Amino acid sequence: MKTQVQRRKVVVVGAGSVGATYCYALAQSGLADEIILIDKNEELVQGQVLDLVHGKPFFPAVRIGVGTEDDYADAQLVVITAGSAQRPGETRLQLLQKNADIVGGIAESVARHECRGVMLIVTNPVDVLTWVALKRSGWERNRVIGSGTVLDSARLRYLLGNHCGVDVHNVHAYILGEHGDSEFAAWSMTNVAGIKIDDYCPICNKCSDWKAERAHIEQQVREAAYKIINAKGATHFAVGMSLLRITASILRKQNSVLTVSVMLNGEFGLKDVCLSVPSVVSDSGIEKIITSPLDTEEKVLLDRSAAVIKEAIDSLSK
Ligand SMILES: NC(=O)c1ccc[n+]([C@@H]2O[C@H](COP(=O)([O-])OP(=O)(O)OC[C@H]3O[C@@H](n4cnc5c(N)ncnc54)[C@H](O)[C@@H]3O)[C@@H](O)[C@H]2O)c1
Repeated sequence: MKTQVQRRKVVVVGAGSVGATYCYALAQSGLADEIILIDKNEELVQGQVLDLVHGKPFFPAVRIGVGTEDDYADAQLVVITAGSAQRPGETRLQLLQKNADIVGGIAESVARHECRGVMLIVTNPVDVLTWVALKRSGWERNRVIGSGTVLDSARLRYLLGNHCGVDVHNVHAYILGEHGDSEFAAWSMTNVAGIKIDDYCPICNKCSDWKAERAHIEQQVREAAYKIINAKGATHFAVGMSLLRITASILRKQNSVLTVSVMLNGEFGLKDVCLSVPSVVSDSGIEKIITSPLDTEEKVLLDRSAAVIKEAIDSLSK
């Protein structure tokens, strides 16, 4: 008797900079058996897939193709990077509504095709659009997650590792809240080599004023996207790797703790808002939200971030 082996199928909606870079990283990783790209721009998606398949002699075995909505049905993961860029004269609010319509429509279609996997939202503003995708799909909250501040936390770890002269892999640090201007570093949860960052300071002994230095590091994280976009028009490499990290935890059931954007339902005293807090990510999406004991100042910052996101949600036409 033949046993049915489940193929690890990832569908990526949006074949622009972020979608294509993620597919390139995913193909090299060997994590997926099948990668399907969808975009409303037919010519672009055909071109991206052709470019990717020419790398097949150098990738682990993987099927890569252009897909349709029917591909949602047996996908284990649907990654949504589809969106519209801001046009001249267009306000942030108009762009928000446009992307909410795009992501909401895709989420509805994924649900209509009875996909049983996980939906990962990447399109910005990612926290608001994760909320939209959740509402429009009607799915349970663990299966709809946003890439949140996984990228921002990586930027923080990189900067801290650099500052302390320590391998980034020995730095644990989290950016929480909105993936945007109100995000903040949870310093109370930051450690280097298992030592709380404030206690590591005398060991590191690199700066005379750690409080000022850490404010500067946090500022650099917050401004990173603006700096890269000004320099080259878009950010795509590190976000591609962040998406790969989330994908690995889902497809390999890794239970990694990642700062993905999740719907809160009373955790941290917040409700009906999606934002980033440390969560255990596995094949069913969110296994558990870790209600870390934040200090008083961090709790104020989390509440402020939640208020910013809620205001954007309320501005959407219902
Ligand atoms: N969450 C994060 O950490 C993070 C980081 C970087 C970028 N982003 C966001 O990711 C999104 C994509 O960025 P990009 O640089 O790839 O943009 P892009 O413009 O290069 O690509 C977007 C693609 O979406 C497609 N698209 C639009 N509407 C569609 C629809 N209804 N169905 C299918 N495809 C559709 C477009 O044709 C385009 O190819 C943006 O919203 C960006 O802000 C998020």
